[in-house]
Amino acid sequence: MAMMVQEPAKRESSDFAPLLAVNDLVIRISIEGGDSVTAVRGISFSIAAGESLALVGESGCGKSMTALSLTGLLPRNGRVVQGTAFWSGRDLLALPADALRRVRGRDIGMVFQDPTSSLNPVLTIGQQLTEGMREHRRIPGWARLAKAIELLQLVGIPDPETRLRSYPHEFSGGQRQRILIAMAIACQPRLLVADEPTTALDATIQAQIVELLKGLQKRLGMAILWITHDLALVAGLVDRVAVMYAGLIVEQAPVRDLFNRPRHPYTLGLLNSMPQTGVGLQATAALKFIPGTPPDLRATTLGCSFAPRCSMVLDRCRTEQPARVAVAAGHESACFRAGEL
Ligand SMILES: Nc1ncnc2c1ncn2[C@@H]1O[C@H](COP(=O)(O)OP(=O)(O)OP(=O)(O)O)[C@@H](O)[C@H]1O
Ligand SMILES: [Mg+2]
Repeated sequence: MAMMVQEPAKRESSDFAPLLAVNDLVIRISIEGGDSVTAVRGISFSIAAGESLALVGESGCGKSMTALSLTGLLPRNGRVVQGTAFWSGRDLLALPADALRRVRGRDIGMVFQDPTSSLNPVLTIGQQLTEGMREHRRIPGWARLAKAIELLQLVGIPDPETRLRSYPHEFSGGQRQRILIAMAIACQPRLLVADEPTTALDATIQAQIVELLKGLQKRLGMAILWITHDLALVAGLVDRVAVMYAGLIVEQAPVRDLFNRPRHPYTLGLLNSMPQTGVGLQATAALKFIPGTPPDLRATTLGCSFAPRCSMVLDRCRTEQPARVAVAAGHESACFRAGEL
């Protein structure tokens, strides 16, 4: 039988045109009383083929809304009011629902935080695994089954032939997350969006899932958009990091550069609040929390939205929004004082 999980083609350096290019994305969410929250306030980022990018930031900063908008899965009260997201020459944000559904699952796979709510309790794992394939690939039944077995093997579920007939409740939380990963990669997506895929799991299982995804990324040559509030988690995991604060990307850099020399006071605060200091930080750095809370996203903020919490704030920060500019190769910061950091 032919090996159905193909090894990735070797990439040429000229292949590093972005796979996904998001530009100036704005997402608004209607709330009660006719009010609205601007959850994402004009963010731009790109991901190259095979690359991994982490979107990091505190709870509520707009990470999930960003991910959901790319696959047309925003909640009913949410909408994209501005921006583009180019994928293979097409703007995902302008695609009709059925075209977007084809992209989702086939070209872009997604894994979410809660494995229980994403699996159907009344269908076997085998049925759920082959369902996605039925929709996206014209392959015969026997081949789908063989592929399902292979996928379960790939994500480390023992005895896959038998386990295909089991229902979700017959698996542990960690195993269910593995199954969701298998479903997400069933059609060999070129991008996997993983939104906090390990937060519901205990630390040991978390580490196993992280290792699994790292291995799969290499093996299948796919890009990953990794969403997390946990900066420590991404240290050994991704190529680049984009730090989000209150709906904006305030800093973006290759992972090592970000840890070695953060160029935004918010990133610095995040690093200082990590229980274990990361690459390049002194082990003696005191554990500090960033004082204050993120701004109310209903209001239009004047100036830098981190200003009220920032220890380096200047007068102009309160009235002028700093643009995100290059501070070193591949390193961008939206802070007037980035040069001093
Ligand atoms: N269903 C909703 N109704 C109203 N506002 C919402 C809703 N969901 C999200 N929001 C708003 O959108 C903002 C961004 O939410 P989002 O879920 O993208 O945050 P996040 O960065 O993924 O946070 P977390 O780390 O907690 O998952 C929130 O601050 C909140 O104000
Ligand atoms: Mg989220």
